[in-house]
Amino acid sequence: MMDSSQISTKIISIDPSHFENRQLHEAVEILQNEGIVAFPTETVYGLGASALSEKAINKIYIAKGRPLDNPLIVHIESMEMLETIVKEIPEEIRKLCNVFWPGPLTILFLRNKKIPDCVTAGLPTVAVRMPQNPIALRLISLSKIPIAAPSANISGRPSPTTAAHVKNDFEGKIPLIIDGGSCPVGVESTVLDVHRNPPLILRPGGVNYEDLKKYLPNLKIYEKHYKNQELKKKPPSTPGLKYRHYSPKARVILIENSQVIPKTHIHDLIKEYSIQGKIGYIHTSDEIHLNSQQLDLLGDSFIDLTHYSDDELINNQEEKKAKYAYIAQKIFWALRKLDNLQVQFIIIEGITEDFSGLAVMNRLRKAAWKII
Ligand code: TXA
Ligand code: MG
Repeated sequence: MMDSSQISTKIISIDPSHFENRQLHEAVEILQNEGIVAFPTETVYGLGASALSEKAINKIYIAKGRPLDNPLIVHIESMEMLETIVKEIPEEIRKLCNVFWPGPLTILFLRNKKIPDCVTAGLPTVAVRMPQNPIALRLISLSKIPIAAPSANISGRPSPTTAAHVKNDFEGKIPLIIDGGSCPVGVESTVLDVHRNPPLILRPGGVNYEDLKKYLPNLKIYEKHYKNQELKKKPPSTPGLKYRHYSPKARVILIENSQVIPKTHIHDLIKEYSIQGKIGYIHTSDEIHLNSQQLDLLGDSFIDLTHYSDDELINNQEEKKAKYAYIAQKIFWALRKLDNLQVQFIIIEGITEDFSGLAVMNRLRKAAWKII
């Protein structure tokens, strides 16, 4: 039942590989009138509003139930648009933009006065990225405004990788969702601070550490390399990191070293939790740890994210990269699917922190109720 504060939510389906500007007309109008629109990006769906309007930005914080001290990422469609919101574009950062944009890399810049305080939670830096999804890019260029957009989920929930996920969280709360199919990357962008020495990944994401390190040889990762004394003295401002994140309704039990844990240990876990409630299981490793009886018990709530790569992948590293990219693409989808199946516990096999594994494990550790 709709209460009086609810509005009707329209969903417009658009094929990202073939569409016309007029299909975005309504979305553009909403954005130009300081409203909010959910739209697809290559990482996850975003909840967008004008990054130049305090009124529009407040609507995002309210709709998401987002703490006001957690700043937003601003999305642009050209380097010219970037120039209108930042103080300067240092040469070494411009090089990174040339390599990784459009794409899932967010970079911190010193903001100018056009960006209101509420976008950055008062920080002197603004986080910016140029998304790769053609719908997102066209939406920004037709609106002619930089668009601030957090992931389009209620604060604390798993990020949305389909329009149905967005609808689930925001039906009746926002006027428009653009459905552009499922997001190919599946985890959010990598957030990079190059103003620090050494440069620091604040949040691992769609662009891998291994790929960034080719351009930034001293690159470090917040939390993972945080034992480093120098970092301890100067902790980065990453307000978003202190909040509970990515959590399905079910309790997540993460098996950190699933590659080496004895099978019997996993069998005991399944036994222990299936007595307490319905369980889901997310399988990511090469070997199946479960027996046929357990697979029967789980039924639909056994989700297999192992991806058998094709022959074109010539070495182990490439194969691992492809497998882990597939797990990243599906991880939020799997958590939300198990919530829909109303399981009470989700057991997940962890992966190593190589390639997309770093972003996946970062999300899973934050989502976890228990880490084993
Ligand atoms: O892929 C993505 O990045 C998606 C899509 C929609 O573009 N967006 C996204 O936004 O994940 P959100 O709001 O869910 O996450 C933004 C992260 C938060 O952890 C926030 O604290 C951090 O970026 N952040 C934003 N501005 C920052 C700043 N100036 N300094 C440090 N961290 C910042
Ligand atoms: Mg988010």
